[in-house]
Amino acid sequence: MARAGMPRKFVFVCINERPAEHPRPSCHPRGSASLFEAFREQTGVHSLVDVKVVASGCLEPCMVGPAVYVAPDDVWYGGVTVEDVPRIVEEHLRDDQPVEFLRIGREEFELSPLAGRSDLPPGEIPPV
Ligand code: FES
Repeated sequence: MARAGMPRKFVFVCINERPAEHPRPSCHPRGSASLFEAFREQTGVHSLVDVKVVASGCLEPCMVGPAVYVAPDDVWYGGVTVEDVPRIVEEHLRDDQPVEFLRIGREEFELSPLAGRSDLPPGEIPPV
């Protein structure tokens, strides 16, 4: 199959992993490696050779991960599961209609990384 040249869309899937004791959660322990593979598989199923799926480091909305970013559409998804992938691939990546119920916005980026981790003494909080 001929290469498609410059991709029409990029899908960044965060696969960052932090230590369990870190106050800020990360996407890998929440299944994002499987998510990355599912995106690659489903874009293949639909022959979307002009969509590039990229494994990424932290994208910042860690509190609502696994996080996925679609460019150049500037669409963010949070809490994505493997079961959500066929719908995102078909509706958004193929048909250009973002899956609204999975979208996140600016407010999710501003959630405190320490929410729910009041058990950690200040001196033991590692840098983000
Ligand atoms: S660790 Fe995935 S968005 Fe930060």
